[in-house]
Amino acid sequence: MPKTATLKIDDKELSLPIIIGTENERAVDISKLRAETGYITFDDGFANTGSAQSNITYIDGEQGILRYRGYPIEQLAEKSNFIETAYLVIHGELPTPEQRTHFSSLLTQHAPLHQGMTRLFQGFPPAAHPMAVLSALMNALGCYYPHLATNNHQRDLEHFEEAVAIAISKVRTIAAHSYRISRGLPLNHPKRSLNYCDNFLHLMFSEPYNDYVATPEVASALNLFLLLHADHEQNCSTSTVRMVASAGANLFASVSAGVNALWGPLHGGANMAVIEMLKSIHADGDDGTKFIAAAKSGKGDRLMGFGHRVYKNYDPRAKIIKTSFYKALASLGIKDDPLLNIAMKLEEVALSDDYFISRKLYPNVDFYSGLIMRALGIPEEMFTVMFAIGRMPGWIAQWHEVARNPKLKIYRPRQIYAGHPQRNYVPTNLRG
Ligand code: ACO
Repeated sequence: MPKTATLKIDDKELSLPIIIGTENERAVDISKLRAETGYITFDDGFANTGSAQSNITYIDGEQGILRYRGYPIEQLAEKSNFIETAYLVIHGELPTPEQRTHFSSLLTQHAPLHQGMTRLFQGFPPAAHPMAVLSALMNALGCYYPHLATNNHQRDLEHFEEAVAIAISKVRTIAAHSYRISRGLPLNHPKRSLNYCDNFLHLMFSEPYNDYVATPEVASALNLFLLLHADHEQNCSTSTVRMVASAGANLFASVSAGVNALWGPLHGGANMAVIEMLKSIHADGDDGTKFIAAAKSGKGDRLMGFGHRVYKNYDPRAKIIKTSFYKALASLGIKDDPLLNIAMKLEEVALSDDYFISRKLYPNVDFYSGLIMRALGIPEEMFTVMFAIGRMPGWIAQWHEVARNPKLKIYRPRQIYAGHPQRNYVPTNLRG
C-alpha cells in the first residue's frame, strides 16, 4: 500500500500523504496543496471529499454495512433500544447499568418545556410547518439555558451531559407540542412512568380522559425507526451541524441548523414522498403497474423509496425495519389498506423485475419508514420531524467531535469564481 500519492502540476511534483481508515478506506491528504502549488481541488457536491476523520459511524454501501461505534446495526436493532443506542453514539461506549439509569433519569427530568418556551408556540400561525417550529425552538433552547450555549466550546463542554439530555428529551416534547397546537388540541405533559417512545406517543395522541396506550409492537416499531436513524455519517444535515459547530457555535444552534438542512426534500423528505406517490397512484386508479412501467421507461416519475446513493446492494436499515413494520401492522389490525396494497405490489415488482435488480434498486429505509409513520397515525407533515428526533444523537455526537477537537479549524471551503471579471460601477442614468 503506498504511503503517498504523487501529483504532477505544471512542472511541479508533489508528494501527498495517504490516510487509511480503520476499515481500510483510503484518502489522499491534500491539505498542503494550495499552500504549495496555488491550486485547490474541485469537487462539486463533495462526492469525493472526506470532510472529517470521525469515530462515530461506519458505512460500506457496497456491502450494505452500517455500524455505530463499531457495533453492527443489526445487533443494535435486535438487542438495544433507541436511548441506549443514543448514549452509545454520543459517548462512544454502551452504558453501564448505572450510566443507563442516570441517563434515563436526566431525560425524564428534562422532558417538560420551560413555560416561556410553551408560550413561544402561540406565536406561530396554526399552519406553520413543524420543521420550522422545531428548528426555531431547538435554537431557542439556548435562550433558556444560556450556561449551555455560551459559544465557547470549552465552557459548553463542561455542561455537555446536561445539554445532551435537554436536546434529546425536549426535541420529543417540542415535536409533539407543535403537532397538538397545529390541530388546536390541548397539550399533554410527559409522564415519569413512561419510557421515551411510549412517552412520545402519549404526548402526541393522549386525549383528556383517554390516555393513549401503545401496543408493544407499535412502541417497538417507533423505537426501531428512531434507532435506525440515529446517525449516518457525513450526510447533508450532519455536515451542516459540523460546519456550524466549527465556527464555535453552541450545541443548540448547531443542531437547529441540522434540522433546517434535513427539511430539504432531497434529504429528509423521501419518506413523505413515498406516501404522496402511493396516494397519487391510488388516485389514478392504478395498482402500481402503470406507474412502474412509466418509471422503467424513464418517462414517468421514479419509484420513491427505492435505490440509494450509498447502499448499492441493499439498505441494511430497510431489511431490519421491514419485519417490525409488518408486526406493527398486525398489532394495529391494519390489513386491507389500499395504499399498503400498492406499496406491497411495488416492493414485489422491484425485488423481481430485471430493471430494478440490474440497477440495484432495492426498497430503502424511507420506503418502510413512511409506511410505518402512516400506520402509527403520524401526519405526513411530521415525518421529517420524526427523522430529526431519531437523528438528534448523531448530530450531538458530531457536534461533540468538532467541539472537543484541540486542532479545530473553522470549515471554510474555497471556490472557483465563474462570475464577471472586474468592471466599473455604472451610474443609474446610464443603465438599461
Ligand atoms: N426508480 C426508478 N428508476 C431509478 C430509481 C428509482 N427510484 N432510482 C434510480 N433509478 C434508475 C435511474 O433512472 C438510472 O437508470 P439508467 O441507468 O437507465 O439511466 C439508474 O437507476 C441509476 O440512477 P442514479 O440516479 O444514477 O442513481 P443514484 O445512485 O445517483 O441515485 C437515488 C440514488 C437519488 C436515491 C435514486 O435511487 C432515487 O432518486 N430514488 C428515489 C428517491 C428516494 O427514495 N430517495 C431516498 C434515498 S434514501 C435516503 O436519503 C435516506
